[in-house]
Amino acid sequence: KTALILNGPNLNLLGTREPAVYGAQTLQDVEALCERACLANGFKLDFRQTNHEGTLVDWLHEAGKLHTAGKLAGVILNAGAYTHTSVALHDAIKGTGITLIELHISNVHAREAFRHHSYISPAAKAVMAGFGVNGYALAVAGLAGMQ
Ligand code: DQA
Repeated sequence: KTALILNGPNLNLLGTREPAVYGAQTLQDVEALCERACLANGFKLDFRQTNHEGTLVDWLHEAGKLHTAGKLAGVILNAGAYTHTSVALHDAIKGTGITLIELHISNVHAREAFRHHSYISPAAKAVMAGFGVNGYALAVAGLAGMQ
């Protein structure tokens, strides 16, 4: 089965973007880390990033089709700032019935108040936050436990 790992806006800047908050590893490093975690858990990895909200909606719909075909282990979604703004992402997750883990590199609850609310959380099976980029590997292991 496929683990679909989706990354939203500004995550292409990992490595140089606020390294005190997000660390020094690049998105490519994160993909390599996810590749190892998926190999260890018997998943095929599909790893993507976009800065566009509608593209994330389209990808969630794609995940829904894979889910229906029995080929999806689940989705790990770091929606970036769209976490805090997007009813469209909330609706897409609800509308597809996919297993989804919400992920944040930083502990959003220890940061600005506008990061405390998530439109993703009520539609997610689980939430991972504050473990740095290692949270991606932890979320893959978590997904394996949900199969
Ligand atoms: C983030 C947290 C969000 O608040 C922020 O907008 C991001 C990254 C994280 O991974 O910690 O872009 O999702």
